[in-house]
Amino acid sequence: MQQSEVKQWLSGVSYELAFWNNVYRWKSAYDGMFCWSRYGSTLQLEGMDIVAFLSQIDHPVVYDVGCGMSYAHGDHLPSADGNIKLDVHYIDPLAHFYNKIKYQYRRDVPDVEFGMLEYLTATAGADSAHLIIVQNALDHSANPVQGITEALCTLKVGGRLYLCHHPNEAEAEHYKGFHKYNITEEGGKFIIWNKNHRFVVDDLISACASVNTFRLENGFIVSVIEKRSDCIQANNQQSLQGLMDVVAEMMQLSRKPSFAMWQQMKYCWYNTIQFFVQALPWECRMNLRRLIYRK
Ligand SMILES: C[S@@+](CC[C@H](N)C(=O)[O-])C[C@H]1O[C@@H](n2cnc3c(N)ncnc32)[C@H](O)[C@@H]1O
Repeated sequence: MQQSEVKQWLSGVSYELAFWNNVYRWKSAYDGMFCWSRYGSTLQLEGMDIVAFLSQIDHPVVYDVGCGMSYAHGDHLPSADGNIKLDVHYIDPLAHFYNKIKYQYRRDVPDVEFGMLEYLTATAGADSAHLIIVQNALDHSANPVQGITEALCTLKVGGRLYLCHHPNEAEAEHYKGFHKYNITEEGGKFIIWNKNHRFVVDDLISACASVNTFRLENGFIVSVIEKRSDCIQANNQQSLQGLMDVVAEMMQLSRKPSFAMWQQMKYCWYNTIQFFVQALPWECRMNLRRLIYRK
């Protein structure tokens, strides 16, 4: 990652932290979120028979990368002896902050583990997962194509990468915060683009994976990528070095008083707004959202 990319990526952190801090602060917002979440129940992924896939594997390992604090997916698998608890790892670059938030508000949910999609093998290890879920997070990463490559290296052969995203989120959000890339589907192909780049993912990874992309009724773009072979060589050392470089860039930037002060001011501003927004009843918040985005 270039220094400018790290700087851009860091500019999205204050909003994300302010958002989760207030969802976890207010009981109504927290309970509202868990009404939607499938945490504690069976794993279901729209457009994929996930039960059939995971049931044939002994002790399947699942990573929810860029998990945020939503615990959106189920963590059990139905079996003849009742529901089995899955080995799900919740992974996010903001893990340290998210864990602080959940302890501060005493919420009983699993810890989040540190990891960045673009350097996933550095923390999770190559060939370690059967299923990787990335929901509304690939378009938040600084380099989504590298993120897909690293996810493929982290999967075992035969494993699946399940991507689920709002279409063209960066355009809708005017490239603010973490939103630097758009995700869409054209003629069944999985496309990542912004004003400077356009990638047809199917063509980039056709040598080692198959890609099945479609739109759900609610407009979400889903892509199920199956790792067919080990043709991209994982290099844990290189991935670790890349991650260390990013952390070093972050440290250097946060030592600049102007940058640190600007981020702190942004956090205070977003935190104040989110304090009031998340205090509103769920229905009222949804109406407000519809009004803003005219959806
Ligand atoms: C909108 S939240 C999505 C949370 C959750 N997946 C969901 O769908 O509710 C986006 C998350 O992506 C994370 N993220 C940003 N850049 C990332 C990266 N490079 N690798 C992995 N996660 C990233 C953010 O920290 C944030 O928690």
